[in-house]
Amino acid sequence: MYRENWKSKLGFILAASGSAVGLGNLWKFPYESYSNGGSAFILLYLIAVAVTGLPIMMAEIFIGKSTNRNPIGAFKALHPSAWHFIGWLGILSGFIILSYYSVVGGWTLRYFFQTLTGAYLSMSDQGISGDFVSFLRNGQSQLFFHSFFMLGTIAIVIFGVRKGIELSGKIFMPILVILLLAMVFFSMQTPGFGKSMEFLFQPDFSKITAQSIIDAMGQSFFSLSLGMGAIITYGSYMQKNEPVIKDAITIVFFDTSIAILACLMIFPILFSYKIQPAESIGILFTTLPMIFLKMPAGIVIGPIFFLLVIFAAITSAVSLLEVVVAYFIDEKKWPRKKATLFLGIAIWMLGIPSALSNGGWNWLTKIQFIGNRNFFDTLDYIATNWMLPVGGIFIAIFTGWIVSVEIRDDSFARDHKMAYQFMIFLLKYITPGLVLLILLHGTGVI
Ligand code: PHE
Repeated sequence: MYRENWKSKLGFILAASGSAVGLGNLWKFPYESYSNGGSAFILLYLIAVAVTGLPIMMAEIFIGKSTNRNPIGAFKALHPSAWHFIGWLGILSGFIILSYYSVVGGWTLRYFFQTLTGAYLSMSDQGISGDFVSFLRNGQSQLFFHSFFMLGTIAIVIFGVRKGIELSGKIFMPILVILLLAMVFFSMQTPGFGKSMEFLFQPDFSKITAQSIIDAMGQSFFSLSLGMGAIITYGSYMQKNEPVIKDAITIVFFDTSIAILACLMIFPILFSYKIQPAESIGILFTTLPMIFLKMPAGIVIGPIFFLLVIFAAITSAVSLLEVVVAYFIDEKKWPRKKATLFLGIAIWMLGIPSALSNGGWNWLTKIQFIGNRNFFDTLDYIATNWMLPVGGIFIAIFTGWIVSVEIRDDSFARDHKMAYQFMIFLLKYITPGLVLLILLHGTGVI
């Protein structure tokens, strides 16, 4: 079957960065850092990115590039055994993650409209954070925006993703970076800057717990789109002669920089103005309108920035849905439209209880799942902290131990020999064991 390739050499990097950079960087990383005490969490995160994220990124690119298939097909093509169950696990992870990701995507839509209509212009700092809390409790409103976001994602995936994503990555991503830098610069002028830097960068090792280690590792998988086949899928549209390691480093570096920049933008504001810290899940949404109120031309920049956040979220959501539908298109020969609509609607339905988990259905609000978590947090916990890392362990083992060495060498022919050998060493001996250890430590087994 004929399969398209990326149009430009940058095509893969742009698309994979579009998948990686999203709400994970802008919304989740700052809020996880905040809830886990800041600096030590960030340090753990950076270690996870280097020791587990980078090698697995490389492994996924390799699996996609060497087979030109969807994740399940790719494992089948590389090894005629049961290994394609990794692809199934990935589809399930994508299904679950997208369901609540779309709810948060809906939050960004709502904030876009709010800033567009100037809703925050006359509000006090407390008013702005209070507004988030009441929105969080408003299940109907969340459901409305979740549906909207999911509709957009479905429409893009039906249309076919490649051309659009490649092009928009070229245009929107640079604007996002420039605006982010401008806002960081502005944030740095606020009185809380010094305190926020201490919080972010002066490691306080007493804050490290088994739970924060798992959180940091899970977050690195989530933010880099690893462990579920998104990067395999995008890598499958690569040309044979592209290098693997260089591309992996570029994407990982870019994604991590955006996450750190998001913290640099949010935390000084958090330490400068009054915000209800109980709702740490909303710190992106409560701090941004405050920056826009105070920065020059904020009225104009506000909606533009939220538009870019929506864009970043949509390109990630598209990669999640693409993994789920690609299997049904490639292997089951479903038409793209049928697969996307059918699975998109199913995912939307699973998102409903997440949208209503803080208010809307009272009985649901009262139920607590794993460790005091509501429905939304439970899905996030299972998918991010467990399913993605478990997927990552198998991808590492598969690439390090199972796959044919000739095929692998061939794929890495354009890469630096020693870097390649070092990465394989990590994939064989370090990465899977470390991820497993962290998971077991988190359960209290060891
Ligand atoms: N990496 C995306 C983000 O940071 C989310 C994502 C996770 C996308 C897993 C694809 C796969 O927002």
